[in-house]
Amino acid sequence: MLVHGDNLPAMKALARTFAGKIRAIYLDPPFNTQRRFAEYADARESAAWAAFMRPRLACLPALLADDGAAFVEIDDTELATLIALMDDAFGANNRVSTITVVRSASTGHKAINKGPVNVADYLLVYAKDRARLRLSRQTRAREGYDWAYATWLENPGDPHDAWRYAPLGRVAARALGFASTPAASRALGAERFRGELSRFALSNAAHVVRFAQPRYEAIGVAMQRLVDRSKREPTTTLCLRRPSHKDFVVRGGNRVLFLRDKVSVAAGEPRLVEPLTNVWTDISFQGIAREGGVVFSRNKKPERLLQRVLSMSSDPEDWVLDPFAGSGTTCAVAHKMGRRFIGIEEGEHLFTLAVPRLARVVRGEDATGITRETGFGGGGGFGVFRS
Ligand SMILES: C[S@@+](CC[C@H](N)C(=O)[O-])C[C@H]1O[C@@H](n2cnc3c(N)ncnc32)[C@H](O)[C@@H]1O
Repeated sequence: MLVHGDNLPAMKALARTFAGKIRAIYLDPPFNTQRRFAEYADARESAAWAAFMRPRLACLPALLADDGAAFVEIDDTELATLIALMDDAFGANNRVSTITVVRSASTGHKAINKGPVNVADYLLVYAKDRARLRLSRQTRAREGYDWAYATWLENPGDPHDAWRYAPLGRVAARALGFASTPAASRALGAERFRGELSRFALSNAAHVVRFAQPRYEAIGVAMQRLVDRSKREPTTTLCLRRPSHKDFVVRGGNRVLFLRDKVSVAAGEPRLVEPLTNVWTDISFQGIAREGGVVFSRNKKPERLLQRVLSMSSDPEDWVLDPFAGSGTTCAVAHKMGRRFIGIEEGEHLFTLAVPRLARVVRGEDATGITRETGFGGGGGFGVFRS
């Protein structure tokens, strides 16, 4: 659904049918930048901006499903005000995360402003009910290799107490046809050897491990006992099986961690991944001018950003709401990801930008943004409503 009109009465009307049914809400309101864009003005007194936002944010909890979440994007102009307003609307204990989204490099005219160069937006994440919230864990590709994983486990298929270890470098060098690590490094050059070594490790991740000191005070008694015993029997690998967790494996008082738990395969290539943090530096805001085939001043958000938000917070078939729909980025991404969407926009650009954009998506004519990686080839449909 695309809805033309002010989002306050529109959300109140939607609440009659959609109360408790929306899994994820993304809001990208005017940031109060004191600028006038081609499509809308963005200059209010700070108190007037708060008075505009407060009743709109107050509509969100009732619309959300019990396990749902709301994400609001903002820059630092009204960040403090927005946190206070969202705390009022959701309760401060339902504040889940404040994500810093790096949107540009420190180059260009921004660098001449006073103070540190401003390159960030923020995403405030709130749960309708923190205890019932369902967010799926996300990972991101890690740059380079994690050199702490430097040990080769020869026989992972054998019982733990028979496990044998060797330096990863030596095993990789031999696999590459050299007698030793120094010989491989001399022949290939240090940098190329490191590249070959990390490729070898990623392709044999079930054999590659690191040792890490457990946080003794943070683990359970059974694990503490195993760590104590492992210190007394330092050359034997010991294992504690745990019903809903990974095995707790120790040697010499240290945990044995597997590279295979940090590898995912994308397009046939094993890649090192790490848990997503609350600092997002890997989503480019550059080069999105043509995304969706619409030009929308400087306010259009990258499809990849919405893809991450919706991957975290929703599943296929779920309803997703964007009350400040703009050029329709959230709706286009939701549709490509198999979610059902409601976008509300009061500007005429709902008809000149969002509707044609979504129509191209439905007809399978939009090859931009996340289309390729979602494999979306068109289909489905949407209705346009007036509030
Ligand atoms: C920052 S833009 C959103 C851009 C969008 N995320 C995108 O990627 O295209 C904010 C939008 O909110 C719209 N807007 C502002 N006040 C509104 C209101 N009360 N009801 C509905 N839309 C509103 C503006 O017209 C503008 O299109």
